[in-house]
Amino acid sequence: MAEASAVPMLEARDVSKSFGGVQACSDVSLTVREGTIHAVIGPNGAGKTTFFNSLSGFYLPERGSVWFAGRDITRAPNWRRIELGMGRTFQTPSIFPELSVRENVALGVRSKRNLAFRIRPASAEPQRKLDARVDELLGFVNLGASAERPVAELSHGAQRLCEIAMSLSTEPRLVLLDEPMAGLAETETDRIMSVIRGLHDSLGLTVLFVEHNMRVVLSLAERITVLDRGRVLAEGSPSEIAANEAVRDAYLGREVLEHV
Ligand SMILES: Nc1ncnc2c1ncn2[C@@H]1O[C@H](COP(=O)(O)OP(=O)(O)OP(=O)(O)O)[C@@H](O)[C@H]1O
Ligand SMILES: [Mg+2]
Repeated sequence: MAEASAVPMLEARDVSKSFGGVQACSDVSLTVREGTIHAVIGPNGAGKTTFFNSLSGFYLPERGSVWFAGRDITRAPNWRRIELGMGRTFQTPSIFPELSVRENVALGVRSKRNLAFRIRPASAEPQRKLDARVDELLGFVNLGASAERPVAELSHGAQRLCEIAMSLSTEPRLVLLDEPMAGLAETETDRIMSVIRGLHDSLGLTVLFVEHNMRVVLSLAERITVLDRGRVLAEGSPSEIAANEAVRDAYLGREVLEHV
């Protein structure tokens, strides 16, 4: 396996963002190493989504900067982030429920092609190549057996996997996931966990995710950053975070951490 680069895959330096009088995140710094699975956790209202949206480009931070593979992307437009290799799950409305899983993922692959046209003209890919790419993406998320079914008929977990397949269509090096397990039953959670692990182990992707489910965080993440009231409270390995008194006080029930 190739040596991970010394340059971080993603870095936030003192990122701050407020809404009116609410300071949602203050001077938040975080380093995501290439090839790691990194989680951001924290109690409700800690600023996780605000921070996440500042990383992905949905919000422009008021102060601080965001770096991807050594480049300052704080003000980079979405297409530039995608071109560099940042991927994120599409919001659910970007899925067409009446279309099949295959058709939805094909739309994602086509939009990547359109993006490529914008950057460097390329010859039109044949349909065969598009189909092969869609099959490959469906294979990564274990949705091959449901390829022809309308997305509306799938379980919530399978719909989430379809969104992940779409996010992979832009060929990212880093995937950002905001609460990928939200609202899912335990068996579905396990299914998504194993797919995320596969993206990391088989495709070598770097993953940054926000998650409430501590079982998921402690078993999936190699590094964890804890936010509380808009600030970084702690950062470390799962066992360090599980043993951290400030984290326990702020957020976590002891019983949740006992098995770590
Ligand atoms: N668009 C917005 N407009 C106004 N206030 C906001 C907005 N987004 C977030 N906030 C406020 O910023 C703070 C941080 O919210 P944020 O959604 O980032 O927290 P979170 O950690 O993602 O919470 P949760 O665990 O509930 O998802 C909260 O006080 C929230 O009310
Ligand atoms: Mg949130």
